[in-house]
Amino acid sequence: MNGIAELDIWLKSLNYTGKGYGTSALKNLSEKLFNEGFHTLIIRPCAKNIRAVNSYKKAGFVESVFEPEKYYKKEYIDKYAPGDCKDGEDIFMVLKNI
Ligand SMILES: CC(C)(COP(=O)(O)OP(=O)(O)OC[C@H]1O[C@@H](n2cnc3c(N)ncnc32)[C@H](O)[C@@H]1OP(=O)(O)O)[C@@H](O)C(=O)NCCC(=O)NCCS
Repeated sequence: MNGIAELDIWLKSLNYTGKGYGTSALKNLSEKLFNEGFHTLIIRPCAKNIRAVNSYKKAGFVESVFEPEKYYKKEYIDKYAPGDCKDGEDIFMVLKNI
């Protein structure tokens, strides 16, 4: 939907994880996107990816109920609503520009 962006992030190597870089990058990107006019950012880590979920919480994302029709245009719901976690559930998280 207009004003909404779905994010994903992968650091270059696992050697760089757990040092705060991902959280910092997400905070910077969020600020830039809000300045560009986006009002809502979503991210959908796999539930078992505790490190990602922790990082996104630190960046301000909040776990929310997933209502695809609020975030995806109707013609994309079938394609994108299932998410990327092939082997399990994901956690739907939202950051709003308030
Ligand atoms: C997800 C990702 C971008 C997060 O960035 P990051 O720089 O690692 O995140 P941070 O270091 O700021 O925070 C990670 C948090 O998880 C915790 N953590 C670190 N390693 C962990 C592990 N193996 N298991 C559980 N928690 C872990 C850290 O303690 C930290 O929380 P804390 O600051 O409260 O202690 C990065 O880890 C990454 O690229 N991972 C590999 C790819 C990936 O999983 N991408 C996400 C797809 S949705």
